[in-house]
Amino acid sequence: MFGHKNVARLPRGYPQFFDRGQGAVIWDVDGREYVDMLCSWGPILLGHVDPEVEAAASTAAARGDCLNGPSPVLVELAELLTDTVAHADWAIFSKNGTDATGLAVAVARAETGRGQILMAHGAYHGIAPWSAVPGTPGVLDQEVSSTPRYDYNDIESLERAVDRAGTDLAAIVVTPIRHEVRRDLEDVKPEFATRSRELCDRLGAVLILDEVRCGLRTDPRGSWEPLGIRPDLSAWSKALGNGHPIAALLGIRALEHAATTVSATGSFWLNSAPMAAAVATLTRARQADLLTSMTAAGSAFQQGLRDQASAHGLVVSVSGPATMPFMTFDGDDDFDVARVWAAACAERGVYLHPTHNWFLSAAHSPAIISRVLDATDLAFGRVAAWS
Ligand SMILES: Cc1ncc(COP(=O)(O)O)c(C=O)c1O
Repeated sequence: MFGHKNVARLPRGYPQFFDRGQGAVIWDVDGREYVDMLCSWGPILLGHVDPEVEAAASTAAARGDCLNGPSPVLVELAELLTDTVAHADWAIFSKNGTDATGLAVAVARAETGRGQILMAHGAYHGIAPWSAVPGTPGVLDQEVSSTPRYDYNDIESLERAVDRAGTDLAAIVVTPIRHEVRRDLEDVKPEFATRSRELCDRLGAVLILDEVRCGLRTDPRGSWEPLGIRPDLSAWSKALGNGHPIAALLGIRALEHAATTVSATGSFWLNSAPMAAAVATLTRARQADLLTSMTAAGSAFQQGLRDQASAHGLVVSVSGPATMPFMTFDGDDDFDVARVWAAACAERGVYLHPTHNWFLSAAHSPAIISRVLDATDLAFGRVAAWS
């Protein structure tokens, strides 16, 4: 068992294997039921086993999921994406977030003929060597290269990193918000987003927005669209297929030629069932009421946590967009308190994570949120008695 889905990283009592999911609820193999506040680490946007998404995927699968070329649903999905995401003129598809961010880096390098990719300290863009932390077992130092890192939301550190990259600057990669593990989530400062756009424009570099985690949970037109800042490339996955494996790299017209020159392919990248699932998911995600009701449910959850913590005499910081909430305890640098709290939530049938942000889906109704808050209140009680 490897990576973030290894239960050894969670407090004792969390299940490793699951039997099924439905709407906002999941069941482990021992039949225990949990409200899923992690949404499979992001992919579940409409709820587990959404009937429309599953019908679209199984209809496509019944016609042949993996053929010698794509089905026309590829065109339908590309047109829907370019019609939805403001900066996008074209789309290429793959499976995972790592594929999409890796393709973005390749397109930026192909276009500019340069090598350096700037990313934020602590940011996660997948498991490819270009974004690995130096010293990662199995990754050669020369694969990590000398990629300088900047601090998210810190213009001076971004400018310093740009200076260090010099004439070899190919791209700045940035996430729409700061969403590293083990810290409060933080909105992007508009002036930071603006500066990253200006620097790329001035230096002929490519601005890559990694939408893998935020995509469709903030603004389906693109997470920085409300700021009026458009990237050159954006990488999407997770929520795009409501659990079906699909990723997309979207780009502006000026980078279309470069995108056709990079090495991009995979045996399953053009399967039709995940694309049909993505069409159904995106069609729903484009309707304004989806984010409105998810935001209302998430805001009620966030406010409920604040009220409960204070009633128990605990100081917490609740952060993140309402659809991607997170909470830390004051002074809990090692996340010991968070682990006690999360374990108590799990015991009471709520699955969330002590160090990684959570996700809401459209299936998180007010009734589900109130069920979750019943459990979190008892968990705060446990923490208050423990600390
Ligand atoms: C911002 C971001 N980019 C890229 C990735 C990598 O996606 P995947 O795990 O699908 O390869 C993740 C995964 O969590 C992510 O959060």
